[in-house]
Amino acid sequence: GPRITLSRLKKMAADKERIAVLTAYDAMFARTAELAGVEVLLIGDSLGMVLQGKESTVPVTTAEIAYHTECVARGSQTAFIMADMPFMTYNDTAMACRDAATLMRAGAHMVKLEGTGWLADVIAQLSRQGVPVCAHLGLTPQSVHKFGGYKVQGKTAEAAEIMLKDAYALVDAGADMLLLECVPPDLARRITESVAVPVVGIGAGADTDAQVLVMHDMLGLGERKPAKFVRNFMNGSESIQQAIERYVQAVKDGSFPAAEHCFAAVESGH
Ligand code: KIV
Ligand code: NA
Repeated sequence: GPRITLSRLKKMAADKERIAVLTAYDAMFARTAELAGVEVLLIGDSLGMVLQGKESTVPVTTAEIAYHTECVARGSQTAFIMADMPFMTYNDTAMACRDAATLMRAGAHMVKLEGTGWLADVIAQLSRQGVPVCAHLGLTPQSVHKFGGYKVQGKTAEAAEIMLKDAYALVDAGADMLLLECVPPDLARRITESVAVPVVGIGAGADTDAQVLVMHDMLGLGERKPAKFVRNFMNGSESIQQAIERYVQAVKDGSFPAAEHCFAAVESGH
């Protein structure tokens, strides 16, 4: 089929047709994922951990994301390609525009930035320059050292209201997509219902427009205990392509994520 566009993704979200997103870092996995039905390929800065063996995403550079984006773009024929902007590469608009240009030239169709309301100026400028932006809210792994670990966000009623306001502000500024990581499902549902752009979730319940996982996680690789929001789709699959097909199917029919992959909010008054 033809290349999936941002307008197609917006139409899918409006029609309540769930979107399957998966990380990819190279040509052959990119092609395998899209043949299995994945609509959006994310060159995540998670590559710092899964490819480079680093402790976090913090050391990843724009040149590294650009290299993997080129690899994915060469292998891909149909997917929409989203690339992460690394740690500290978008703290002013000039820097953000320069580095986003590098990723767009490498083959990205959208860039993803982590943050809160403060991203509005940068998003507005990128958007004016023709760069679609996904704003990543909630557990933003580039801030792991500030958070003091990988912690669920938006758990209290107060934190939820702040995230909802940030989501509005960033969509107003021009964000064409949001990604919510490790937030309670109720909050993710409220944000999804309140904004006019597709919302992607990871550890955010089944009510977002799209789901994303790190490919290596859903293939069951790695010796560490997987995060609560991960399902191993290699279990019961005959091949990697079949595992990805089963992930896509489970996203489409709403059977993934299930309750066991979600995080509870803190009840108010406690
Ligand atoms: O880097 C990444 O793979 C991501 C996803 C986990 C959302 O940002
Ligand atoms: Na990332």
